[in-house]
Amino acid sequence: MKNITIAIDGFSSTGKSTVAKQLAKHLGYVYVDTGAMYRAVTYYAMQNGLISDLDFNKEALIYQLPNIKISFKFNKTLGFAEVYLNAVNIEKEIRTLEVSSYVSKVAAISEIRQKLVEQQQQMGQDKGVVMDGRDIGTVVFPDAELKLFMTASAETRAERRYQELIERGDDVEYKDVLDNVKERDYIDSNRKDSPLKKAEDAIEIDNSNMSLDEQFNTILQLAKMTTEDC
Ligand code: DC
Repeated sequence: MKNITIAIDGFSSTGKSTVAKQLAKHLGYVYVDTGAMYRAVTYYAMQNGLISDLDFNKEALIYQLPNIKISFKFNKTLGFAEVYLNAVNIEKEIRTLEVSSYVSKVAAISEIRQKLVEQQQQMGQDKGVVMDGRDIGTVVFPDAELKLFMTASAETRAERRYQELIERGDDVEYKDVLDNVKERDYIDSNRKDSPLKKAEDAIEIDNSNMSLDEQFNTILQLAKMTTEDC
């Protein structure tokens, strides 16, 4: 069967990565978490003292872009690829609320987007890829055979994210998580470069009231139908 490109976009914490991982595993495809790449650049900026006044330090971060090497390595135990910054595994470090609170501002910088989009296009050039993010169906792979746009209410998403952070042992308040989700929605949707929006040919999936199994089966059917049509 022919391999296709599956683009999954949508608001933060809509469960894109969960379904993308399930789908990639089932189809034997490569999974690329593009949000992890923006988070890795944000983490680099934090580690190098460039984040507290990003407006002031933007040029310094752009200047240091050639020093930022992001890669993925498949972890057999976890069943997905973890993200590395300059050969150091930072999968856990990039999931904190602190990184989440800065990442949308970093992701709004055009020079950073350009570098990461190029790398994403290379990673998906052979198809057989499930890529999730905000601009995959609109900018990275506008010709993707299957495009999905995931939505759910901000409250539902914040509750899911809050539970994840609590399970990791992070000390967070639900209200702060909800504020972060809403703030990121706003910045991601209103930035000048590649704002988050549904591609015209994307299929919208509101998973507010869907179980993980329902969501996976719905999307798997769409993937199978699309592959047969190609
Ligand atoms: O999917 P995520 O929550 O890990 O993404 C983190 C941030 O990165 C999100 O607030 C927006 C940004 N992002 C982006 O601008 N473009 C992408 N393709 C993926 C993520």
